[in-house]
Amino acid sequence: MNFKQFIKKYFPKLFNNSGPMRNYINKKFRSEYIKINIIKEFFEYSPNVTGTISGRSKNTIFSIKNYSPVLNSLIKQPLHQQDIDEITPSNESQLLKELFQKYKSDKATHNYHLVYAKYLNQQKIKNLLEIGLGTNNTEIMSNMSKLGNPGASLFAFRDFLPQSEIWGADIDEKILFQDKNINTLYLDQLDKISIQEFITKFSFKFDVIIDDGFHSIISNINSIFIAKNILVEDGLLIIEDIRLDNLPLLNVAINLVKEDFEAKIYKNPNMAVAVLKKLND
Ligand SMILES: C[S@@+](CC[C@H](N)C(=O)[O-])C[C@H]1O[C@@H](n2cnc3c(N)ncnc32)[C@H](O)[C@@H]1O
Repeated sequence: MNFKQFIKKYFPKLFNNSGPMRNYINKKFRSEYIKINIIKEFFEYSPNVTGTISGRSKNTIFSIKNYSPVLNSLIKQPLHQQDIDEITPSNESQLLKELFQKYKSDKATHNYHLVYAKYLNQQKIKNLLEIGLGTNNTEIMSNMSKLGNPGASLFAFRDFLPQSEIWGADIDEKILFQDKNINTLYLDQLDKISIQEFITKFSFKFDVIIDDGFHSIISNINSIFIAKNILVEDGLLIIEDIRLDNLPLLNVAINLVKEDFEAKIYKNPNMAVAVLKKLND
């Protein structure tokens, strides 16, 4: 267990509160300079002007950095936000917390059990899908380290929702499995073809879809696309582990689908969870 995993496991509050510091460390020390041709790689962001290559390259970076702030300035309605800690704990949330801990999912570290217990209505959920099983293959991005227990959260949801069918999807084919009330399938949520194939596999729609997969703005938007296709009316898309800096970009996407989804954001000091309710089918 490394230092970060130790803090996350034994001092979850400290871990959550140290989010801004970890972001600073990631930016400053866990990043690297690579040489790229800015105009070639980001041509659609480059200005259509005469001028020096250096000037046009700098302005291309300016456009990328300002794209989401200027789009947000056009959005009239602010995102509905609330602190996760303001959700009142219940017997259900305590049970779910214990189940996440039992199977070694890190969801309770971030207090996500409070969000899930609030929204997961045990009577109404026939089919729940979670993207991201929790691979322990450290070669795969967004892994749960060597100590991970693939399927941890699926087992917790299965025990919490004994009447429901639990589905999981992951890019790591080696961790796919079947168990009582649990089925898992391959999905690369960054790949449009894989997503299209995935969507066509189901003859029914899900009541809940959870995105705990790659955790990037593109994977999040692709989850909204998946939910547009295979989520029932009044169904929920729950997107986890959104870095607070990504919220403005996600807000733009949420605004584009405002006729299809109603959104609410729950925040802890470090990360956010978006809950999107499907308005129509
Ligand atoms: C944070 S872990 C999920 C943890 C698990 N839900 C839990 O609570 O125990 C993220 C998972 O996303 C998967 N993943 C990474 N990239 C992906 C992609 N492009 N498409 C689908 N899954 C991906 C990883 O293999 C990993 O299993």
